[in-house]
Amino acid sequence: MLKQVLIAIITAALAFGLFNYMDTQVPEGVTEVWSARILDTALRTNGKIILSLHNFGMHGGVSWFTRKMVDVVLTTMITGSPFGLGSDPELEIHDTIYDGVAVRVYEPTGVPKQNRPVLVYYHGGGWSWLSVDVYDQATRELAKRVKMVVVSVGYRQSPEHAHPIPFEDCLKATEYVIENADKLGIDAKRVAVSGDSAGGHLSAAVSLRLKKKIKIQIPIYPCLQLLDLQTPSYIENKQYIPGMLNDVSMLTYWLNYGNISYDYIDKILANEHTSPELKSSKYAKYISPEWYMKEHIRTENLRSMDKKTNFGDKKLSESIEKTLLDPYFAPLMADESSLKDLPFTYVLTAGYDVLRDDGLIYYQRLLKAGVKVKLAHYQDGFHGMIFFFKGPMPFQVGIRAMNDLCEFLKKEL
Ligand SMILES: *[C@@H]1O[C@H](CO)[C@@H](O)[C@H](O)[C@H]1NC(C)=O
Repeated sequence: MLKQVLIAIITAALAFGLFNYMDTQVPEGVTEVWSARILDTALRTNGKIILSLHNFGMHGGVSWFTRKMVDVVLTTMITGSPFGLGSDPELEIHDTIYDGVAVRVYEPTGVPKQNRPVLVYYHGGGWSWLSVDVYDQATRELAKRVKMVVVSVGYRQSPEHAHPIPFEDCLKATEYVIENADKLGIDAKRVAVSGDSAGGHLSAAVSLRLKKKIKIQIPIYPCLQLLDLQTPSYIENKQYIPGMLNDVSMLTYWLNYGNISYDYIDKILANEHTSPELKSSKYAKYISPEWYMKEHIRTENLRSMDKKTNFGDKKLSESIEKTLLDPYFAPLMADESSLKDLPFTYVLTAGYDVLRDDGLIYYQRLLKAGVKVKLAHYQDGFHGMIFFFKGPMPFQVGIRAMNDLCEFLKKEL
């Protein structure tokens, strides 16, 4: 009897602990509450393991093993299997090298191998994590539904390979596609680039370099600047599905990519990494509250923000300024004259994402620069949603975002 009572008490305590641990804040409008909790809990646990490894001296917690662990966990949640998908009669898939860069190529079967449109895709994962494998389901879907070639780029990752190496790898692979279009059976006039999160950043950076050689660019909830981590979206969204992305994890990715020390995490989160001079410079104006889209900010008092400029660590600011202001490191640091030649741009943003305002500011700045630009904003969207358009835990908002994206590409590419 006593034994049963003890077991009952222990079970209840464990269930209670687990329930509390799984108590994720889910975006309003997202009905798949338990999927969101499972997703967040799994990724948050991964994040804790990685952070503890960092504290034990493994830089950023990045290693072959931890990368594999994150890949397997996410692949299982996306496809239902830790091994991912098998072969597909509608696609020819092969891995190869374009100008020294590893790529995976998806070609829809039954489409003549000439003059085909192509999407070059840069996967997300903070320039440090994930792989073409994790994106396999999404890149297959795009290739099949739009009937285009997809080239998924396995660029080298940070912190081992800091900026500009991931960018240069993406650039090389993309230029290879353009220069060898005939040989590859591709129409050089119908080249699109896209990517999500860090890949959205890479899409914006590559487009800034290649301009109109690209027909369409599609940055999906991109990260675009490291000057201000106190935008309304960083403030109001960091607690939603934080395992996928939050202010601290996003910052560690920037630090990996920029080869900047983790010692400055607290300072950067508080915007103390920019000097008063930098806070009053033209660069700060590129991302200032005048660009905010107030209709997409949920918290009343964040709609009219007053940015203080009279604080900041001048020494730290000067030591990292060159990186922070490089438009290939932070595409929102580009001036209007270099933005104006960008290709047709489809900016996809999510309402409950710390990066929402990076994307919305980018949209506003392109609009002002006279670029042809379309905004696909999902009020109930969250970071990473584009993975979950099918599989064991589909989200309605992920399905909608993928449908809209495919329809757009079918029509415009
Ligand atoms: C990062 O910077 C240090 C010097 O500050 C340099 O020695 C190191 O090679 C850099 N790492 C990468 C990956 O670029």
